[in-house]
This record gives sequence, C-alpha cells and structure tokens, in this order.
Amino acid sequence: MTQKRIVLIIGGGIAAYKCLDLIRRLGDRGIAVRAVLTRAAEQFVTPLSVGALSNQPVFTNLFDLDSEREIGHIRLSREADLIVVAPATADLIAKMAGGHADDLASTVLLATDKPVLVAPAMNPRMWLHPATRRNVAQLAADGIEVLAPAVGEMAESGEAGPGRLPEVPEIVSRIEAMLATTQRSRWTRNPVDAVSGGETSSSPADGTSGGTLSGRHVLITSGPTHEPIDPVRYIANRSSGKQGHAIAAAAARAGADVTLVSGPVAIGDPPGVKVVRVETASEMLEAVRAALPADVGVFAAAVADWRVETPGGQKMKKTASAATPRLTLVENPDILRTIASDRNVRPPLVVGFAAETENVITHARRKLKSKGADWIVANDVSPERGVMGGDRNTVHLVSAGGVESWPEMGKSEVAERIVERIAATLRERGAAAE
Ligand code: CTP
Repeated sequence: MTQKRIVLIIGGGIAAYKCLDLIRRLGDRGIAVRAVLTRAAEQFVTPLSVGALSNQPVFTNLFDLDSEREIGHIRLSREADLIVVAPATADLIAKMAGGHADDLASTVLLATDKPVLVAPAMNPRMWLHPATRRNVAQLAADGIEVLAPAVGEMAESGEAGPGRLPEVPEIVSRIEAMLATTQRSRWTRNPVDAVSGGETSSSPADGTSGGTLSGRHVLITSGPTHEPIDPVRYIANRSSGKQGHAIAAAAARAGADVTLVSGPVAIGDPPGVKVVRVETASEMLEAVRAALPADVGVFAAAVADWRVETPGGQKMKKTASAATPRLTLVENPDILRTIASDRNVRPPLVVGFAAETENVITHARRKLKSKGADWIVANDVSPERGVMGGDRNTVHLVSAGGVESWPEMGKSEVAERIVERIAATLRERGAAAE
C-alpha cells in the first residue's frame, strides 16, 4: 500500500501547539505530513519544531522562492491525499469561504482538488458570529468538511463555549476515515477536471471508482417537514437536516449514487448528491416513491406526525367577533413504515432514526419492530443535549443483533461511521450470497 500523504495547514492561534501532537500521532500511523504555516502560526509554533516532527520540509510563504522552485503550491496541494486545516482560525475560514489566495496557505486551499478537512479553533463569540456561521455554511456547501469545535473554557479567562480545537484523537480518526473513503478528487464529477492541470490522477472521469458504495443507489430523507395551517403559517419542528445531509455527503464520498429528499432546511446541498426539495410529509412520501428503487434507504427526516386537516385557503384573520381558531390535526403517512412494509419497493437495507427525549433505547427497540427497519439510529434530542440544530450527536445503533452505543462525536463523523457500516453490511451480504 502506498503511503498516505496529507498537507497540514497550521493557522495562527494558541491551539497551534496541538499540531505537534497531531503530527506525531499521524506519523505513528504511517501518514506523511507536509506542513504549511501561516504567518500568524509562526508566532505560536516554529517551522523548526514542526519540521523536526514531520521529517519533511515546512512551507511558510507563497513567495519562498526556493520551495516554490522545488515543489510549487499546485503540486503541493495535488500530491496530497487530503488537506487538513488545523487550527482553522475565523480569518482562515473566511478566506476559504471567499476564495482568497494571498498567501501560501490560502493558495494551496484554492488550488487543490483534494478533500479538505477543517478543524476550527477560535473564541466562542467568533465561532457563533453570523459571519463565521455564514462562512462555515459556505464551506459545507463547497464540499469541505468542518469538524465541530469542542466546547469548554477558552485560553482567555472567563470565556467558555464552542470554539476549542476538537480533540486531537477526534481529528486523527476523521483523517483516517477520510483517507479510507476518499480516494478520488472532490471535483472529478465535473468532466472539465478530467482534462485540467495535467496533474497525475488515478481517478476516472466519473469519479466513482474505488468507493465502498460505488454502483449503489442510496436514498436519504432529511430535515423537517412543514405542514401548512394557511398560506403563510405552518407547523414545523427544530430539525436542521445536518445529520441527514452529512450522511448524504458521506455516501457520495463513498461513491454512491445519492438521492436526498429534503424538507426545508437552511444548510447547503451536499456536493455530488441529487437533491429533491419538498415541504410536507405527503410530498416527501411521493418523492421517496419516485426515487425508488434503492439499495439502501436512510430515513433521517423529522417528519411531522400530524398535519392540519383542512389548511385555510386564505390567511386566517383575527376579528373581534371570531373565536380563537381550533386546529384539527390528522395523522401524516409514516414514510419509513410505508416503504419498509411494501415488499415491492423496500430497499434491501432500511435504516430509520429515532428522536427521543427519554428511554431512548427502549423506544428505539420498539420502533425497530413497529417500523420494520433493519437498524434504528437512536438519539436523545432533549433540549439540554443540543442535538437538534447542533453539530454533535450521541447515537445508539439498534438492530436485531443488539445495541451499540457510540461516544459523542461530530455529526459528520456519525455520518461517516454509518456509511462505513452500510458499506460493510452490503459487502458481507454480497459475499454470503456468492
Ligand atoms: N418517520 C417517517 N414518517 C413519519 C414519522 C417518522 O418516515 N411520518 C421516520 C423518521 O424519519 C425516523 C423514524 O420514522 O426514521 C422515527 O421517527 P420519530 O420521529 O423518532 O418517531 P415517530 O414515528 O414520529 O414516533 P414518536 O413521535 O411517537 O416518537
């Protein structure tokens, strides 16, 4: 097996010193690291210490002519299997979102055609600032994977919240998972890239070779549904679609042909995925039926259980004489159960979710049976856990074989693991059938 290579872009910030540990651990796993330091990073770690640990030349400036002549920023970005940005400061993230290229780090990031993983570290207020939220959403829409920062005390006294660099072992495990599943260029689905640059690339133009799910159709539901009350009002829930969309992105990275049926969400479309947008549960069921057959169905949407029996044709008005309106609700179709119980269309592997606020595993076990799913991914969505709308999740994988509880991790890592599990199951079934 050829040695995996990553380019590690180290941003300026107190957390930069943790990169030394990251480089060491990657080295232990046989992964070669070429580091690029931003000017600000040099205030926190020295090229000498980074070079000593990585055993590779360290790059510090776009206009460093010697290194430019020796390797060049294009080759630097193209020779890697993966680009990792850690710590990614708010400024570096903003540059990436804006497509700037005014130093070596941002130029490498703009020139690359390889997968990119971002591990942010910044003050919680900067992380929560609408500008950073916007930029992170842009990166996700561009197909860049952003790990959720850890929550806790910051170096500045009295500051706490999300913004600490994710734990080094978490970054390492994401790097390993991405190196295992992302064997191809992010952009190879675009035929133009097949002829661009003249750089060596073993990926074929359709970009699907080598993926663990290549040749498979994966159908995923995601997000909430909106059930109209009248033309301007609706019933909804707090689902953000992040987990379902992350699964779609991970499945596409694994080479699957992915259809994502999504309720109304505020996040971008995952790259390389066919997205069908719907509003209501009934529309979602119709879109799912239209997208079948599939090898795998993942039902991650938080479908509204009820809809208003007769939505108003016009906006309901309050008048002095009219009584407060009473809404009559009727039950929506259960999409998961409908598809799982229909022999003619049921995908061979059906994965449901369970959103619970108490007795998570007991309820999930019940849902496994009542819905006819092969697996239920159960999560605790009590408000204090911050799962709905948040970036992290703690899930239990419930199947006829038992319950597996996974530690808390970012939603993208949960997605990656679910996709790995799906690929392994299909592989085993295929081998058993032979
Ligand atoms: N689901 C669905 N259609 C519905 C309701 C739920 O497809 N009308 C799917 C969800 O996508 C999820 C699973 O069923 O995969 C469980 O959803 P959840 O909201 O946890 O359970 P409910 O069936 O709604 O049951 P309850 O609200 O009573 O917990």
